[in-house]
Amino acid sequence: MMMMIATSTINIGGRKKREQYLFLIIFLCICTIFFQRFSLSVEAASNSGSLKYTRHNYKQVSSLRLQRIEKHLNKINKPAVITVQSPDGDIIDCVHKRKQPALDHPLLKNHKIQKEAPERPKAMKKKMKHTNDKDEEGINNNNGDEAAAAVEGKGKEGAWVVHQTWHRNGTRCPRGTVPIRRSTVDDVLRAKSLFDYGKKKQQQPPNNFNFNNNLTADLSARRTNAPDVVSGNGHEHAIAYTGSLQEVYGARATINVWTPSIEQANEFSLSQIWVLSGSFDGSDLNSIEAGWQVSPELYGDNSPRLFTYWTTDSYQATGCYNLLCSGFIQTNSRIAIGASISPVSSYASNQYDVTILIWKDPKLGNWWMGFGDNTLVGYWPADLFTHLAEKATMVEWGGEVVNTRANGEHTATQMGSGHFAEDGFGKASYFRNLEIVDSDNSLSSVPGVSTLAENTNCYNIESSYNNEWGTHFYYGGPGKNSRCP
Ligand SMILES: *[C@@H]1O[C@H](CO)[C@@H](O)[C@H](O)[C@H]1NC(C)=O
Repeated sequence: MMMMIATSTINIGGRKKREQYLFLIIFLCICTIFFQRFSLSVEAASNSGSLKYTRHNYKQVSSLRLQRIEKHLNKINKPAVITVQSPDGDIIDCVHKRKQPALDHPLLKNHKIQKEAPERPKAMKKKMKHTNDKDEEGINNNNGDEAAAAVEGKGKEGAWVVHQTWHRNGTRCPRGTVPIRRSTVDDVLRAKSLFDYGKKKQQQPPNNFNFNNNLTADLSARRTNAPDVVSGNGHEHAIAYTGSLQEVYGARATINVWTPSIEQANEFSLSQIWVLSGSFDGSDLNSIEAGWQVSPELYGDNSPRLFTYWTTDSYQATGCYNLLCSGFIQTNSRIAIGASISPVSSYASNQYDVTILIWKDPKLGNWWMGFGDNTLVGYWPADLFTHLAEKATMVEWGGEVVNTRANGEHTATQMGSGHFAEDGFGKASYFRNLEIVDSDNSLSSVPGVSTLAENTNCYNIESSYNNEWGTHFYYGGPGKNSRCP
């Protein structure tokens, strides 16, 4: 802004004044630099539109706070055998398996990391054809114009060179180590507090949120069936879910990957699977979640990242994202949780998706996470949970955003691709081949799902069924628009 003023002044001024103006410009430049240096954190807190994160000026942070943060980071960042610098700025530490954060958990002090692969769920139905989309890294490329064609054919050979972004470095983590995204002081400073770092914001009871249409009554009637749709604190969803009172031992889906834009730094947009058990309006909800998310606050950028989450007390004190607290045990040396996924889908062009499977090992009871068709990422030990120690009672698939209503309006934070469900393949984001694992450790297509979105003028969902994609749905939306003010 200041520079603009200086430039226009010079155009009016004559030759003689040139030197004066040059001085003025230099002076203004210096001012601008100073101004920027000292207003970085203010900017980060209040910016809108294009989110840009600059490093904090640590001088603004009290040394006591810095000390506390560093102490915490020393605890969660484990010593690296080697370190890999990702082109996107992440630092990936290859940490010895036995030194990973999970084992700090009081219940896991003497935990023996499971060496044997658990028994994979059996594909029951012949319609499980998409399992031939083999991809070591777990990312599929759908090049087709038609949804069905995309899954069936193209890209079988060429498309599987896609990675997590850090793989482009070329260095792999040595055997016996697991790749862990290092947390930085900046990561913590973006969170509201040290306690909040890595936590999902607590979702408050639903009564203080205004819906823009008459869905409220309907929603509260269904809320007993759809637990995580507690829309306090601006959390909004477009989800599909199985009926409750079912015994479920896992779930799988293939999720389209996009880069939804986020308006406010403290908002997020995610697309995930929830595996749930416990009471939905009490404080003992157990939840295991995995998918991709864009969260400027958590990661400092706008890239979709593979993430996990767990809680055993309705998002209160237990659990966290990724490996930011102890709990999730990682076994894979190639996939880093919290690292960005690339490439991502683009509008009316190449589509990319990732397959995520969460299931309970019938022998030892641990909840495992699979990525792609053959990659095991790690597991949540059964000991972490109360209700989920036994089984899940509900599964949800879909999108969630936080709308802070900054400036008193719905924000333009996008869900999915930012386009509504009816736009279909290549434009709207999708989940395909929704499956659940039953007590037999068998995978089967979900016969039918219910869907739910708080305000379909902001984000919506449409589910459907066909042979290739089984039960699937399109979902998402732009957030703020003329019908979603
Ligand atoms: C890969 O990571 C190493 C270790 O941090 C770094 O020295 C190197 O420059 C990185 N290479 C590339 C190609 O980014």
